[in-house]
Amino acid sequence: NEVTVIDREGSAQTIAWEPEQTLMEALRDNDLPVLASCGGTASCATCHVFVEKEVFDSLGERSEDELELLVEAEGYRECGSRLSCQIGFDSGLSGVTVTLAPED
Ligand code: FES
Repeated sequence: NEVTVIDREGSAQTIAWEPEQTLMEALRDNDLPVLASCGGTASCATCHVFVEKEVFDSLGERSEDELELLVEAEGYRECGSRLSCQIGFDSGLSGVTVTLAPED
């Protein structure tokens, strides 16, 4: 898979997303500024991204833990905010664009 990432300065780059990675791991391993300080356990919100509406709808419900963190996060979008550590590899997501959320 490849995903296009828009960073906090508004620059776009396309990165590889390998099947064993969550989206957060793909972002981090491609040197994007995603701290992921909780290591991917849905407890820090530093991996917050915005996804497009169609992608958001295709991902299914956010867990209660994820939603609790996101509503407190900078720039929260009801139909767009996700924790990238909670997005597992999915070949159907190849070619999508994600935007890094502002840092808290
Ligand atoms: Fe901490 Fe995703 S890495 S919430």
